[in-house]
Amino acid sequence: MRFTHIFTLSVLSATMMANAVLAKQTEADVYYYDLSDQFVANLANCIKAESLRKGIKVKEFNAAGDQLTQSTQMEEDPKTGATLLVNLVDPAQADQVVEKAKKNSQRVIFFNREPSSTVLESYDDAWYVGADPVQAGDYQAELVIDYIRTHPEIDRNKDGKISIVFLKGEKNHQETASRTQAVIRELEQNKIAYEITFESYTNWSFNQGYDYMAAQLTQKGIDKTELLIGNNDSLILGAIQALADYGYNQGNPQKVIPAFGIDAIPEALTAITAGNMSGTVLNDASAMAKAILGIAAAESKDPEEIEKSIGYFISDDHRVLIPYIKVSHRGTK
Ligand code: GAL
Repeated sequence: MRFTHIFTLSVLSATMMANAVLAKQTEADVYYYDLSDQFVANLANCIKAESLRKGIKVKEFNAAGDQLTQSTQMEEDPKTGATLLVNLVDPAQADQVVEKAKKNSQRVIFFNREPSSTVLESYDDAWYVGADPVQAGDYQAELVIDYIRTHPEIDRNKDGKISIVFLKGEKNHQETASRTQAVIRELEQNKIAYEITFESYTNWSFNQGYDYMAAQLTQKGIDKTELLIGNNDSLILGAIQALADYGYNQGNPQKVIPAFGIDAIPEALTAITAGNMSGTVLNDASAMAKAILGIAAAESKDPEEIEKSIGYFISDDHRVLIPYIKVSHRGTK
């Protein structure tokens, strides 16, 4: 009895100490890799809205795709002890950020661009919020394969295989590689007869998607384009814009080249509703913002406590992966 009493007391005081370690966080500095990226710009809006709800004052920095700019922004920021929310330009720089956070006893939450587990494990107040790119690729493949099986007319030039234009994101970005590999693996495993007629890295960007597709169409015509797959929506929307110049994907159901992206940004949802795009996978920016600000607001460093308050599983290496959701003209799944 007495033992239980002492035990309960010591557990209680240990918990109280853990909770007492951190004062309530009221400020966060958020470093974006590039606010001209459409998905990241949406995420920034969600982070703004969620920070207001949580009563956390957020200061925003935009590195515009340049790591040196981002490192300088972080160095010049006065040491207020604010929580660091970091969307790295170069994920290999994560260790430098963790060193700085450790020195100033700041919490650091990386998001969207993934640091290595070794870096995350090197500091008990470093976290990551993102999503599993293999799941995105798997879901995209399911949408594509379902479309191919229900639309035999997709093989417009009747050569027995589907000519795919594959638009990839950023070179050396883990999501580019994992999403691409997952789709290709699924096409192979499902014995889909296909050839990739053109592929290119188009840096997640509408303009680069447009330029690349327009150049291919000018040089090679439209016959070798029967299906578009992209690592994200922006570059697929750019490619659709190029198809519009040939009268495709403009609302005429007889003239559609199926196109599949990832992110479910509002512009893609509009294109799907209009019948100009066939499917996407929701990269849930709003849930990510809730998880990021949830961790920022937590007064404890204990993963179990934080897990309870944010409602998402946290892995041993402090990662929160928000599930993707398939989106097609039939709705979400
Ligand atoms: C991905 C997203 C892309 C791009 C990229 C930037 O998760 O799907 O559209 O924003 O992040 O790191």
